[in-house]
Amino acid sequence: MGNTFTWLWALALLQGALGAAVPETDSRIRYDNYAVYKVKYESVEQRNLLEKLTEDRANVRLWHEAKDELHLMISPQSLSEFQTKVRQANASAEIFIANVQDLIDMETTENSRGTSDEFGWKRYNSLAQIEAWLDEILARYPVITEGFIVGQSYEGRTIRGIKISYKSGNPGVFIESNIHAREWITSATATWLINQFLTSEDPLVRTLAESHDWYIVPVLNVDGFVYTHEKDRMWRKTRQPSATSSCIGADPNRNYDSHWMENNGASSNPCAENYGGPQPFSEPEIKAMSEFVAGIKDKVNVMLAFHSYSQLLLSPYGHTEEELPPNYDDLMEVAKAYADAVEAMPYGTVYRYGTASGILYIASGATNDWAYNEQDIQISYTIEFRDTGHYGFILPPVHIVPNAEEALFGIAALLDKCKELGYLAIKY
Ligand code: ARG
Ligand code: ZN
Repeated sequence: MGNTFTWLWALALLQGALGAAVPETDSRIRYDNYAVYKVKYESVEQRNLLEKLTEDRANVRLWHEAKDELHLMISPQSLSEFQTKVRQANASAEIFIANVQDLIDMETTENSRGTSDEFGWKRYNSLAQIEAWLDEILARYPVITEGFIVGQSYEGRTIRGIKISYKSGNPGVFIESNIHAREWITSATATWLINQFLTSEDPLVRTLAESHDWYIVPVLNVDGFVYTHEKDRMWRKTRQPSATSSCIGADPNRNYDSHWMENNGASSNPCAENYGGPQPFSEPEIKAMSEFVAGIKDKVNVMLAFHSYSQLLLSPYGHTEEELPPNYDDLMEVAKAYADAVEAMPYGTVYRYGTASGILYIASGATNDWAYNEQDIQISYTIEFRDTGHYGFILPPVHIVPNAEEALFGIAALLDKCKELGYLAIKY
């Protein structure tokens, strides 16, 4: 009797311990032995063959596409079929991640170091951690900072932002970050920038911080971001269900009402990673963002939308290759200033720049195109951070600070050039 009791007691303790050690992780989607390949191609026919592969969403997921290259994540079950298809298309595939789950596991381990509410840039933070930190910052700098609310997400979360203003009469810079859920380096970088603007003693940073008004939204796609932390690390889209499909979410960066869905700049398939949504602004996060920006557009001289990965600065237009934006030469000069400043740093990181349609692919309904075309914000870029396809979206936390330093000095050079070219004059 005594023995049975002890045994049951021990079992209960053991279960309790196990339960505490692995909270919720069992419900997360796993990517054991999923591999990521760079596939190089030359012709449109090859590309179409390869792109067809992504229709099998359970086995093939698009990570990145460019003019001559696709990055595809492949399930272990479909690996041999994938290799056959690549051969048939006469393309060449090179592996860069052998097991996605290994990278996710390493990241999870690093994220759980330290106490759970300790915010910092040695690991990636959850939405709750970011918001708690934001509250602290707002309380500590009540004169210089001001919290703002962009609106509500589909799942009812509040999308928050912070305005930093040291004096009146400054030109405005808007930073949109983490519109794509899995691009965690973007909110890590945005929060680091906020911290630098408020605490740095470096004279260059002080001038940068104090001579512009900053409107920063660290996490725009709040539902998707939480989903990447709790369920599926590789989620990109929003979380609003579709009326016509069991696939969930739209690509928020294809959902703005500016040349929406033109020139195949987005997919009409609700299961695609670049689904444009049933109509422009169908996603509450994007509708809210558009209304918020429209309300302050006279104060915004520069729009920067943070993404990863590829190390690129992308200007309008995204929706067409047939035409260049009116101030194309200036946009290129300003982008060059960013790229040159970043490359001159000790890390030597190389950024390429050009129009989004010219150097990447046609994509319509993106933030920076909408800001440029519809809100008269003449300096408007998508910035794709580190890397170029080694870790991709699962960039190890040791990259957070270097990436953010590059963003800081890149943006400083970009704004200097904007000023020189006359883009920072007060608009109203
Ligand atoms: N990777 C980003 C995306 O797919 C780049 C978009 C750039 N295109 C544009 N039109 N701004 O959303
Ligand atoms: Zn993105």
